[in-house]
Amino acid sequence: MKIVTTVEELRDQLSGQLRTAFVPTMGNLHEGHLSLMRLARKHGDPVVASIFVNRLQFGPNEDFEKYPRTFNADVEKLEKEGVYVLFAPTEKDLYPEPQEFRVRPPDGLGNTLEGEFRPGFFSGVTTVVLKLFSCVQPRVAVFGKKDYQQLMIVRNMCRQFALPTSIIAAETWRADDGLALSSRNMYLSPEERAEAPQLYQALNFVAEEVRQGHKDVFSLEHKAMDTLTQRGWKPDYISIRKQIDLQPPTAGDMAEGAPLVVLAAAKLGTTRLIDNLEI
Ligand code: PAF
Repeated sequence: MKIVTTVEELRDQLSGQLRTAFVPTMGNLHEGHLSLMRLARKHGDPVVASIFVNRLQFGPNEDFEKYPRTFNADVEKLEKEGVYVLFAPTEKDLYPEPQEFRVRPPDGLGNTLEGEFRPGFFSGVTTVVLKLFSCVQPRVAVFGKKDYQQLMIVRNMCRQFALPTSIIAAETWRADDGLALSSRNMYLSPEERAEAPQLYQALNFVAEEVRQGHKDVFSLEHKAMDTLTQRGWKPDYISIRKQIDLQPPTAGDMAEGAPLVVLAAAKLGTTRLIDNLEI
């Protein structure tokens, strides 16, 4: 695996490649990330990964400074997955001057759910993703469904800007007890780690009720949030949305059986976890 840090080196390595499959990450790689690499390998060649902790997508009180950086272990894992190039720019490499041009996702999609609780997050994500795409010029790029709204926003960005990159969605990788793998799980104490699968349980409860024909979205969402609150969580939202545009379903949508997804974000201690389940 070639490790490159500058855009020039990256372009040299990839010149003439037309079928590049790309997996952007912020490092601290776990089995979920590695499953993205494997999926990438099925959809293109060479596989290129990036590791870059993107300051633009962190709020002032978020965990940018303490975000886990485990570069050497990450490199070892990527080597084993047969990744061809790892692009690991420093901040100066990727943002040699202040990044003043920004992508602004549309309000409907960008300001709801995660966008409501993390203002500026999706602008930071889409700005860096557009920039990384411009550096790597991938034919396909793989994103996990764990960050469901991110996946949808990136996909819409590619469509609206007519980018020549197809977005491939990878299923969420879960621990045996159901907890979705995330780099932030490492912030959990042993007691919190034992409690953490309750978020997935709450999603399953909502999904199962909807499948059984329960149509009162509001009461289901509140019941699930109350359960978590009683267990000591601080939920930001548990929300049933339409898969197509992440807007709340109308009674008509519910009656017609529109494809739905239930999304959740909640704090356990100081750690904020997100997860979702398609219904
Ligand atoms: O999902 C992530 O790890 C990040 O948001 C991404 C897509 C690598 C952009 O920084």
